[in-house]
Amino acid sequence: MTPPPEETPPRRRSELTFRGNQHAGRHGWLRLTPAYGARLAADLLADAAPGARVLDPFAGSATTLLSAAERGHDATGVELNPFLVGFGNLKLGRFQARTLSAAAERAEESLRALDAATPVEAPPMFRIERWWAPPVLEWLCRLRGALDLRGRTGALLEVAFLRTMMALSGASFGHVSMSFRDAPPELPASAGARFRADVKAVLAGARTQVPGRGRVHRGDARTLAPLEGRYDRVLTSPPYPNRISYVRELRPYMYWSGHLKEARQAGELDWEAIGGTWGVATSRLKEWAPTRTVPADLAPTLDAIADAAPADKRANGPLLANYVARYFEDMAAHFRALRPHVRPGGRLDYVVGNASFYGVLVPAEELLAARMEAAGFEGAEARVLRKRNSKRELYEYVVSARG
Ligand SMILES: C[S@@+](CC[C@H](N)C(=O)[O-])C[C@H]1O[C@@H](n2cnc3c(N)ncnc32)[C@H](O)[C@@H]1O
Repeated sequence: MTPPPEETPPRRRSELTFRGNQHAGRHGWLRLTPAYGARLAADLLADAAPGARVLDPFAGSATTLLSAAERGHDATGVELNPFLVGFGNLKLGRFQARTLSAAAERAEESLRALDAATPVEAPPMFRIERWWAPPVLEWLCRLRGALDLRGRTGALLEVAFLRTMMALSGASFGHVSMSFRDAPPELPASAGARFRADVKAVLAGARTQVPGRGRVHRGDARTLAPLEGRYDRVLTSPPYPNRISYVRELRPYMYWSGHLKEARQAGELDWEAIGGTWGVATSRLKEWAPTRTVPADLAPTLDAIADAAPADKRANGPLLANYVARYFEDMAAHFRALRPHVRPGGRLDYVVGNASFYGVLVPAEELLAARMEAAGFEGAEARVLRKRNSKRELYEYVVSARG
């Protein structure tokens, strides 16, 4: 049994989440909700041997990899979402002084040419008026049209653009997942200055040289096909079984950077992801059936969820039970794929939250520890990291084991 939460400070400790990254150089380039805190990654890597091979199989925005590379380690990531793969590799990049000065010059040229620029088409986002007021959207389309985004110089400018478009949007980060303010902001007279400041922030991060090496491969954590060799440390935060869709959270970034061209693609990508339930992924879940016998430690929880839905939402019970079953089947496949890549005595640290459906608690930390052991890892155990939100029983844990 996981240690009772009472033994640890039941604080929210938001410095351990993406909120703690905002003023941490490259870690703060984009404010991505799925990210965890660079400080948390650094704490968990504090005792790694110099030059350790560090793996993050759910690399996300490359927080682990950048933290590891900043400490001189050799960091490798696997990530399914192509936007995050590109963004992560940029975050881990080495930049020459001339790339940075070219970016600053290009940004100024674009601002000078803004009035005459041909705007790009607005991204085909559902109810886009909730995101940007019409004059803001028009300004963003013009700025995007004025920007030369080619090469690595352009990639840095794109990050600055994404910061600006988010700052001028109606998105609100007050909750676990992204929500909307009552109305999106008006176009400020200082919009150009805002973009200039974002360019400055991105270039300041890029100027800091990272001593270690890091790279992100596009791949699936259930097979880990791109990986070679063994790793000393695996530090990651996998999806949680709580129905948060990373694709949903990343939509504005993915549309503006051209990674999403229509809503259907978002659902398709979410279906490929572990724990995805958005759009088409929801209807596919209804048809899904376990491909292996449901393990005894999970079956009672699934039955309880299937039965717990209120009378007016009866069908949701079996759907959510399927969601949880698929999540743990996928995570079990992940640990089996991972086993050959961890050196004997190497360590796993998984930051994960538990979940609750209709009052039925899903003890993700215990279920993942059991799956680590079933895949051949040793000494799996979970400790409480922090309390998650006002619901009493929701916590984040670190689940650790040895190779
Ligand atoms: C909790 S987030 C990781 C956040 C990361 N620690 C950070 O700081 O940005 C989980 C990530 O797993 C990715 N993911 C989901 N299913 C995957 C799969 N089958 N293979 C690889 N990555 C996957 C998601 O796209 C998401 O970026």
